[in-house]
Amino acid sequence: MLKTLVLAGGFGTRLRPLSCSRPKTLFPVANKPLIDYTLESLSEAGVETVILAVYYMAEALVRYLGPTKNNLGILYLREQRPMGTGGPIRLAKDMMNGEKFMVMNGDLLTDFDYKRLINYHEEKGGIATVALTQVEDPYRYGSVELDWEGRITRFVEKPELGKAPSNLINAGIYILEPEIYDYIPEGGKVRIETEVFPKLAEEQQLYGFESHGFWMDIGEPVDYLNANAAVLARQRKVIKPDSIEIDPTAIINGPCNFGENIKIGADSRIGPNVSLADDVQIGKGCRIENSIIFAGAVIEDYSSVKNAILGENSVLERWVKVESGSLIGDFAQIGDGVTITEGVSICPSKSIEESILKPTQVM
Ligand code: GDD
Ligand code: MG
Repeated sequence: MLKTLVLAGGFGTRLRPLSCSRPKTLFPVANKPLIDYTLESLSEAGVETVILAVYYMAEALVRYLGPTKNNLGILYLREQRPMGTGGPIRLAKDMMNGEKFMVMNGDLLTDFDYKRLINYHEEKGGIATVALTQVEDPYRYGSVELDWEGRITRFVEKPELGKAPSNLINAGIYILEPEIYDYIPEGGKVRIETEVFPKLAEEQQLYGFESHGFWMDIGEPVDYLNANAAVLARQRKVIKPDSIEIDPTAIINGPCNFGENIKIGADSRIGPNVSLADDVQIGKGCRIENSIIFAGAVIEDYSSVKNAILGENSVLERWVKVESGSLIGDFAQIGDGVTITEGVSICPSKSIEESILKPTQVM
């Protein structure tokens, strides 16, 4: 199977402040880091070598994965500065032995059939084949126009409203021939989506292969919550280890996924679509719904969390409400009676004593 380059160096800006302390690929989805899903799927497809292009928080990834996982050999390609989505491809040239290879964005959760994509690529014979998927909002992605022969005739990255060629978008998985190196200048930052694909499309060397499988990018908080809910739905039950203490009056509505050493107090209601990581403590009378709670977070009595993400070791005191796509940074503390709603993000270690009801970033 082809060597695979995984782009895992982005800053994850749209997931700040949670991405201030971990790379996007280590964000837990149903209590397992995203990168593990990627590596498992590549390993199942028969990939033997994965090259991780790393930059931002590279050490955290190297420490977590080491040199092998899931029967895969993992090599690291370290950038001195961000090289974009194309630069790492040029940089990896010597590792590919002049053969074709696969590239994928590291922030995806998908069950794409990589082998079908490769077969299609070989059939068509272009320099590059892009996996495509249908979405309702192509403006957040790279949108394509596809002709009847499967050629991409236009590739428009983040099109303006009303200007997307179609709802078919770049799913962030590519098969590339060695000729691709001729299209990527050496040594600098290159965005493959704006600097390479449009040119290949013009030269009729770019093909697209639509897949109807499961596909999600976890770039934004709502995507991340949806991806988590989708994985929980596939697990279809409440997953909980023995080390967890749930008061008999608490109600758990699946699907949920619980880590080790969790405590849940009397009359609390958890679920649906909730992940609680290790060492989370929840007091009495709490409500948690459609949310991701990172390790060691504390939610005191009568507090509620809905459609939100709480960072590691964050604390919600009593009668706190956190809602609507809000993100609470690691170690942040939200005082008694405070309401946080409408996409608010709170920086790590911050103390909040007053309610915040409109989209704000608290530094
Ligand atoms: N190594 C490295 N270096 N990786 C990078 C860099 C870099 O400088 N910049 C971004 N990446 C990685 C990110 O970590 C991510 O895994 C991937 O490249 C794509 O970057 P994003 O910032 O997540 O891009 P996007 O989601 O806005 O758009 C891309 O993905 C969409 C599908 O999810 C584009 O490829 C779109 O065309 C595509 O539709
Ligand atoms: Mg992305």
